[in-house]
Amino acid sequence: MSIPNAIYPGSFDPITYGHIDIVRRAKKLFPRLVIAIVANPNKRPFFSITERVKITKEALAETGVCGIEVISYDGLLIDCAKGIGATAVVRGLRANSDFDYEFQMALTNRNLDSEIETVLFMTAGCYSFLSSSIVKEVKRFGGDIDSFVPKIVEEALARKF
Ligand code: PNS
Repeated sequence: MSIPNAIYPGSFDPITYGHIDIVRRAKKLFPRLVIAIVANPNKRPFFSITERVKITKEALAETGVCGIEVISYDGLLIDCAKGIGATAVVRGLRANSDFDYEFQMALTNRNLDSEIETVLFMTAGCYSFLSSSIVKEVKRFGGDIDSFVPKIVEEALARKF
């Protein structure tokens, strides 16, 4: 049986230590793991797609995570997954509040393509409160985000604000 390629999709606006923790753990199960950043998420992104791809690559390099491809996509996630030969979708699950959305997304995607499975990773407890939105809010008001994101992300936010 062959080991599936996996895609880890999201807005990554910006990537946080919570995302990086999921990448490290998913990488152990899936030899080929591709981070796919949605170009036009439902929410208006803070960073452009070019910025998010660059920041994500640099954040992975800074934290010593190697061998992860970072791409962008527009349109349906399932089409992107098929395009790169992925048969698993990796997502992180934090609190209860994430569940409904992840459940809906996983079932929608399985209805669109029953060959692609969603695999949810429970967040590490220490990151269960963390989100890209919280990081931006704390930084906007001058708070310390050192324990939330790599230095490269903190610098990119500092330049924007
Ligand atoms: O980090 P996010 O914003 O929670 O990621 C959500 C994302 C980008 C994975 C999801 O919205 C998505 O896949 N959008 C692309 C459009 C799509 O495929 N929609 C149908 C599945 S919900």
